[in-house]
Amino acid sequence: MSRLRLFAAVQPGFEPVLKDELWRLGINQNVKVQPGGVEFDGMLSHLYRVNLWSRVATRVLIRNEQFFANTFSELVTRASQIPWEQYLILNTPVDIRVTCRKSRLYHSDAVAERVVTAIGNRMGFPPTLANSEVAGPVKPQQIIVRIVRDKCQISIDSSGDHLHKRGYRGNAGKAPIRETLAASLLLELGYDGSQAFVDPMCGSGTFPIEAAMIATNRAPGANRKFQFMHWPTYDFALWQKLLADAETAVKPAQNPIGGFDRDQGAVAAAQENAAAAHVNVDFAQSALSAVLVKQDSGMLLSNLPYGKRVGNSKSRDLRDLYATFGYALETEFSNWTYGFLAGNHELANATRQPLERRTVENGGLKTIFCQKK
Ligand SMILES: C[S@@+](CC[C@H](N)C(=O)[O-])C[C@H]1O[C@@H](n2cnc3c(N)ncnc32)[C@H](O)[C@@H]1O
Repeated sequence: MSRLRLFAAVQPGFEPVLKDELWRLGINQNVKVQPGGVEFDGMLSHLYRVNLWSRVATRVLIRNEQFFANTFSELVTRASQIPWEQYLILNTPVDIRVTCRKSRLYHSDAVAERVVTAIGNRMGFPPTLANSEVAGPVKPQQIIVRIVRDKCQISIDSSGDHLHKRGYRGNAGKAPIRETLAASLLLELGYDGSQAFVDPMCGSGTFPIEAAMIATNRAPGANRKFQFMHWPTYDFALWQKLLADAETAVKPAQNPIGGFDRDQGAVAAAQENAAAAHVNVDFAQSALSAVLVKQDSGMLLSNLPYGKRVGNSKSRDLRDLYATFGYALETEFSNWTYGFLAGNHELANATRQPLERRTVENGGLKTIFCQKK
């Protein structure tokens, strides 16, 4: 495969975090930040590298050149020019996701059918359609077609399962945060492993585990499979080399990383997850009001209950919990940098701390990401 145009997708609002991360991964060719991701030029090795190493990208796509199409025959002609044989073997089913806006071609099912025809023209016979979210013997190849103002862009997914699925979180607990969002917040807060870290309400342990992976320089994708492994162009030797390099790059953590939760079940789940992620984190059962840390300074990041996802919490109790959290920030953590996700502004106010705030979506809910001002 020659030079490719690649797109790493990210949760909207975290494009700058992704851009910085890609820069650190050596991605510097024709880089363009766009809403929802970053586009760049690269080779197959860059595609593998970003899938293996990005902590914040949700998936990586190959973007084919945009073309104009306002008839089905134009669509079929241009889509037949895509080198499908590089991504599909004869029995690979395809999952074609189509969006059409302000265009002559507006019927998404008909567009998907024509893309199947185009693949058939190129490959000899048309692939079957399948849903990539439904488990089957062969992982369907996801293809994303976007037609906006008659301009069509066809992208090919290289990741398969979204990248938050690192493979370590067997036990997700009550209201887990996605691994990619947890890592994005850590990096936005400036966590780089050179400080102690704690999450005093850690649930299944996602923040401390992601922090430990950053601190020890563990590649987040080293223990999972990717869609590109099913492509005829899959370079097994190159992937093995990247994995071996990633193994060599692992280093010991310089500072302690810990998590607390009052729920013993959550602590047990967090311990299991950390073991599966091959990282050392000190998890302990403790109520927030009793949390004690040995370090004078460090970084704290937590996802507080919102009262919407973790049921039963009355709003009065929640305000009290946020007030207790604020008190802990002023006392036990007075010298620490911190960030937290709050359910809403009123709850954030209950901490009585001077805060910088921005809205961040978590699991379909609007939350407030607060940082020390
Ligand atoms: C939204 S969940 C955190 C989810 C976590 N970030 C994850 O990825 O799994 C909030 C956690 O706060 C814990 N919690 C609630 N009140 C607490 C308190 N007073 N002291 C300690 N932990 C508390 C709950 O047990 C729950 O695990």
